[in-house]
Amino acid sequence: MMLSTEKTAISSTQFLQETLEGLHAEPKRMYSKYFYDETGDQIFQQIMAMEEYYLTDAEMEIMKDQADGIADAISTDGTGFDLIELGAGDATKSIHLLRKLLEKKHDFKYYPIDISEHVIEELSAGLPVKLPLLNFQGLNGDYFDMLRKACEISDRKKVVLFMGANIGNMSVGEAQQFCINLKDILSPEDILIIGFDLKKNPKQILDAYNDKSGITRSFNLNLLNRINRELNGTFDLDAFDHYASYDPETGSCKSYLISLKNQLVHIDDAEVSFSKDEYIYMEISQKYSLSEIEDLADSSGFKVVQYFSDRRQYFVDAVWKFA
Ligand code: AVI
Repeated sequence: MMLSTEKTAISSTQFLQETLEGLHAEPKRMYSKYFYDETGDQIFQQIMAMEEYYLTDAEMEIMKDQADGIADAISTDGTGFDLIELGAGDATKSIHLLRKLLEKKHDFKYYPIDISEHVIEELSAGLPVKLPLLNFQGLNGDYFDMLRKACEISDRKKVVLFMGANIGNMSVGEAQQFCINLKDILSPEDILIIGFDLKKNPKQILDAYNDKSGITRSFNLNLLNRINRELNGTFDLDAFDHYASYDPETGSCKSYLISLKNQLVHIDDAEVSFSKDEYIYMEISQKYSLSEIEDLADSSGFKVVQYFSDRRQYFVDAVWKFA
């Protein structure tokens, strides 16, 4: 067993720069990658447990019921590989695959990558208890920096897991660029497994991001709190409200914070003014059809070789190889 955690968290300078740049833009925006401080991680756990948030159950079902098939899609010839999980979170879904790979005696090392230092610390403490035979190394930081690092550490075949519909937190254009960037780092024998939330009844999608209990609302507002705490901000959380929308034509589910009055907010040495009803664009959660997934693979130099879907066909984990 190997236990080590690389600490290269995003700097507060970058957080400040991107926050001010986003709030000085027209329209104003924030970056959802900053949702995940310790409180944000906890609220996200609550989101995943919500009745309305079907995504987690759907992908969990895939991982539990189809781990065997996914393990075979990864390797059947006994070649050793590195399993790199981008945005590993608490690994409660991927643990089923990890267990199956161990059971099938695959020769692999697991590299969970997460932007949240807290997440990597928890994983590094929990994984050896749950899977004592697992060889792993947690990497805390930016996906690409850490993926490059994993490629420096070893030259074995790479299997990159990007689950949880994290790709949905990019616009389609950003997702395409992201996949092109991944292809630049990877080699022709490598495999990509990406989780996509599928287009479905618009009401069901909207409910998942506009829950009655207000958990998603607190998830968004927590970023204002984080700015107050870490960047000397003066946001009044009662003066902003959460608004979510879903457009079935484009598949874009977006969340916003709406300023409830004219107000001035200080962040570090800067001043940002908001008019009543002005919105801050907080996050996109893009939904896909199978043909849109194939278009995305195609436009970034990959091909879809297999889909693993849940019984209700809410979600797919798609296996991509180089085209
Ligand atoms: C992490 N990501 C895939 C979640 C999603 O569904 O877009 C984040 C989230 N935002 C609001 N609810 C969940």
